[in-house]
Amino acid sequence: MMKYLLFALTLVAALAPGQFAGASPDLTATTAPAGSIWLDTLDLSKIEQDWGKPGKCQSVENHPLTLGKTVYAHGIGTHARSIMRIDLHGSATHFDAVVGVDDEVGKRGSVTFEVLADKKNVFETQVVRGGDAPVPVSVDLTGVQSLSLIVDDGRDGIDSDHADWAGALLTLAADAGNRPQMVPSPQNAPGPADPPRMAFEPVSPLPAIHGASVVGSTPGKPFLFLIPATGDAPLTYSVTKLPAGLVLDPKTGILSGRLKSSGVTVVKVTVKNARGSATRNLRIIGGTGKLAQTPPMGWNSWNVWAGKITQDKVEAAADAMVNSGLAAHGYQYVNIDDTWEGQRDAQGRVTSNAKFPDMTGLANYVHQKGLKIGIYSSPGPQTCARYEGSYQHEELDAQTYADWGFDYLKYDWCSYGDVVKGQSGPDVFKKPYAVMGKALAKASRDIVFSFCQYGMGEVWTWGESLGGNCWRTTGDINDSWPSLRKIYQSQNGHEAYAGPGHWNDPDMLVVGQVGWGRPHPSHLSPNEQLLHMSLWCLLSSPLLIGCDMSNLDDFTKALLTNDEALDINQDPLGKPAGRIAMDGDVEVWARPLADGTWAVGLVNPLLEATDGTLQLSALKLKGAQPIRDLWLHKDLGEISGSYTVSVPAHGIVLLKVGKPR
Ligand code: GAL
Repeated sequence: MMKYLLFALTLVAALAPGQFAGASPDLTATTAPAGSIWLDTLDLSKIEQDWGKPGKCQSVENHPLTLGKTVYAHGIGTHARSIMRIDLHGSATHFDAVVGVDDEVGKRGSVTFEVLADKKNVFETQVVRGGDAPVPVSVDLTGVQSLSLIVDDGRDGIDSDHADWAGALLTLAADAGNRPQMVPSPQNAPGPADPPRMAFEPVSPLPAIHGASVVGSTPGKPFLFLIPATGDAPLTYSVTKLPAGLVLDPKTGILSGRLKSSGVTVVKVTVKNARGSATRNLRIIGGTGKLAQTPPMGWNSWNVWAGKITQDKVEAAADAMVNSGLAAHGYQYVNIDDTWEGQRDAQGRVTSNAKFPDMTGLANYVHQKGLKIGIYSSPGPQTCARYEGSYQHEELDAQTYADWGFDYLKYDWCSYGDVVKGQSGPDVFKKPYAVMGKALAKASRDIVFSFCQYGMGEVWTWGESLGGNCWRTTGDINDSWPSLRKIYQSQNGHEAYAGPGHWNDPDMLVVGQVGWGRPHPSHLSPNEQLLHMSLWCLLSSPLLIGCDMSNLDDFTKALLTNDEALDINQDPLGKPAGRIAMDGDVEVWARPLADGTWAVGLVNPLLEATDGTLQLSALKLKGAQPIRDLWLHKDLGEISGSYTVSVPAHGIVLLKVGKPR
């Protein structure tokens, strides 16, 4: 604030007398004063923000832009963190607006606003919270080439950060030749639609086993695991030495029952068809706290359907997971996100709403296919979409989910911010997850516990200690390059905190038909999608498909079912990649694998193809080493010293390097 005051004083001192003297424009007006334009007349699709879409003359949730009960006919409703860049080329002389947290979130939300003129900070606020008085902005832009309007999250995550640039007005220079233009930053421009750097492999008719090779379950609680396998039908399954309490259906490959005791059993699984057979070990671990030994693979409803999810659509998703072949490659969770919730009954038990008439029937439907089902709630009184949350009903909710048959809970911070308003410190972030963690441990089913609080309080450093099986490390992803780039680059360093049973979650996949209720083909370019999938495999991220699985084009299917990439994600060593080196602009991400080899991604964030080099010394490998390209499905022979390859624009080359033990 001090900085802002000083700046304002300097500015006033530097101005010719009278320059500010004119009556300040009426920012609530419907028509712009002569010689000025509303900022919302520019191309808002260039705005980058961490949640939702920018509202043109509306809040981010499409309500009238309202600050301190004043409604503004013009302005932009955005969400932290966001950035707008405007090329002015000297065409404007002044910027005016009123900023604050939109009234639609009440007392929630906390943000800072900043204005940069040619990269110089010319305005900034202290943290502005929901319900605080709006702050006027008035800055001189004479001669300025480039203007940036930035909203940050007030250092406490982006929950409810609905930030308005209300009445945002640019006064144009008398001789303005150019019109101001909203632009993406060069590093955020979308990648070219070059053909994806991959070879399409026909599905082999021979039997092959995929997915997790290690699964854990609590003795006495229901166990369910579909052995993922491909090959010409019919396939038959057999196993040696199952631990007590489990049975195998030889026709479907579904293992079920309840483990009788703790301990590790290595089971030899064989899958046969008319063409041959495949055998692989499956390690079954009995014990408490043994879930998610490998990152969960499955689907979640949010990125494709958002609030339009229904019971029918979840059943269709389970059908599609099997019929499209995805389940045969290891995808197994079918997860409902927000908006299933109804009211609580007289006993306080949560019910589902009219879109979900029969939760038990739905869970049974999914289980019969050998798949598992997930549900969503919030530690706050309300979820992010303002449905019933679990606040003060945690134990009852956990048992209700178990009674219905749910296997996975995504637990989303949302309105819990209201409960702890004004409080700070790591314990504030931990408490609600500790409460639900205990409730889930008591429940009569194994339920994978997925924290969703966008990385607040460095959740990766303590998520495991509270029983978290995975935790979101970022705000919401969307199908744009800026979102993907920001998220993957922010993961470096988190790898130290993840391992079997507890994973970093940089959010769900945005490939295929996505669209939060209005499905469209992902706006990511084909190579961006390859980069997304490959990095999520390298990072041991949960692989939750965010698209309509009943509408998969060949590319998306190939992208989601490359067993060589999926094997990296599911590698039983469970050591996620970090960025181990830079080769100019090319990032080298790498992780060790259980068989003694390395998985390596050479990542090119540039807008043009460029050469990337892997130095074997970065992997501490010496002498000649075998190398394989996992998207071209090609052995490249042996390399010594280093390997150089052309990496597509916004693309990746995914390699396996070294001699297996
Ligand atoms: C967000 C969460 C999204 C989705 C949404 C539902 O906070 O990050 O992934 O769950 O809430 O309202």
